[in-house]
Amino acid sequence: MRTHVKSSAGTGSSADPARTLALTLLCRAESENRPLDELIGELAVETAGDIDADPARDLDGRDLRFVRQLVAGVTKWRLHIDWILRPHSKRPLPELTATVRHALRLAVFQMRWLDRVPARAAVHSAVELTKCFEHRGAASYANAVLRNLTRADEPIAYPDRETNLAHHLSVVHSHPRWLVERWLSRWELPQTEALLRANNEHPLLYARRNPLRAGHDEFLRNLPAGAHPRQVDETTYEVSAPEGFFQSPAFVKGQAYVQDVAASEPVRMLAPAIGERCLDLCAAPGGKAIQAAIAGKDEIELIAVDRSPQRLRLLRQSTQRLGLSSIRCVASDGDEIPLGQRTGFDRVLVDAPCSGTGVFRRHPDARWNKRAEDLPRHAKRQLQLLHSGFRHLRVGGVLVYSTCSLEMEENDQVVESFLAQQPDARLDEDTSDRPPRFQSVPGRDEGDGSFAVRLKKVADHGEEPQIPREAV
Ligand SMILES: C[S@@+](CC[C@H](N)C(=O)[O-])C[C@H]1O[C@@H](n2cnc3c(N)ncnc32)[C@H](O)[C@@H]1O
Repeated sequence: MRTHVKSSAGTGSSADPARTLALTLLCRAESENRPLDELIGELAVETAGDIDADPARDLDGRDLRFVRQLVAGVTKWRLHIDWILRPHSKRPLPELTATVRHALRLAVFQMRWLDRVPARAAVHSAVELTKCFEHRGAASYANAVLRNLTRADEPIAYPDRETNLAHHLSVVHSHPRWLVERWLSRWELPQTEALLRANNEHPLLYARRNPLRAGHDEFLRNLPAGAHPRQVDETTYEVSAPEGFFQSPAFVKGQAYVQDVAASEPVRMLAPAIGERCLDLCAAPGGKAIQAAIAGKDEIELIAVDRSPQRLRLLRQSTQRLGLSSIRCVASDGDEIPLGQRTGFDRVLVDAPCSGTGVFRRHPDARWNKRAEDLPRHAKRQLQLLHSGFRHLRVGGVLVYSTCSLEMEENDQVVESFLAQQPDARLDEDTSDRPPRFQSVPGRDEGDGSFAVRLKKVADHGEEPQIPREAV
């Protein structure tokens, strides 16, 4: 679907196209209740195509990066921004139209979080944006709220840190209070605060070198000039200036793929080797499947299953670009893979769908649509998939269960339930020198939040608990 950006022509407004597009996206994400990643992803496609009729045609790469920064910033910092705005708006923010509310939020985000936009320019642009979409009265209202705010002398009165720590942290770091309370009850204050801070940082891009296509020197030569790569391990590089990365020869020639540094640990623990048969039960979009195929020098047999054909298409595109032929994609529910008798895999990866609380910095809107009540539902589905994966493992084979969640219910507790129900499974302490359990936490460790446990099948008595499907 196209993102139609209203033109300021004929409205008496001088709103600039980048901010107009940012406001349009924020309003659409709210009214269509769609993930921001999806809308921003469409934007990349649309702007690469024919957009002659659209004011967004004037936007170059730099402008589009600014649009993304605005949209992601306003979304992440929403709670904090609204706390700043609230005392200056006579009408409660939820009663304002979405356009006025988001125009105000855009102004506060620019004033407080972007050094290069002076307050006067942020106010002016919000008023012009409102004029572009609304009647003059709405623009005057936005102007009055922002003038009040810029004239206020007193420091912002946040919830008191001493008497209400969770509320204070929730507003200051712009996170739902229930998550802050949950994390405070699990970790010491410094670690919780480090996690909250890390979730608001700009996500880093980690490029992984495909050693089947390029050595270190050639790879570096083919990155964009000025990418400033920092080598993290033999094949992982943090790219601090990612502009142009996806158009660079390193990417286009299949010498690179993108994978967070912590997200690579589950496959390191799985350690697939040449000649082995591997099953990836929740494979798309495919970072781990690609990593596994490369670890096996593209001389393994890897069945990559995912129930989403759209997401599997991304994996197919990547395997073509990277020149990998050992991955076979199968669109199927992980519980009902049409494998016939061809089971008995050497390695199985169950990278289960989860709440994603470990990857908030990559998905600015994710924190707002999580609910504590969803965790048991995720856990039931994860346990079911873990049993399915284990069913396809040969005796002596190794299975890694992983998530990008920080929550015990989806991680250790799923593994504990599984081990209690499956007498043929053990924690695998000895297949590799990597420990059998891994957990990274943003703010404490490099990279995203990632969890993994390595298990082994020691016998096959064919026993499996019945987990009711309707519960999953
Ligand atoms: C965490 S993502 C996997 C990420 C992937 N392993 C990677 O490295 O890019 C979880 C995936 O599980 C898939 N999924 C969810 N439920 C499933 C099911 N019952 N069977 C198979 N795949 C499922 C989703 O479509 C999603 O692509």
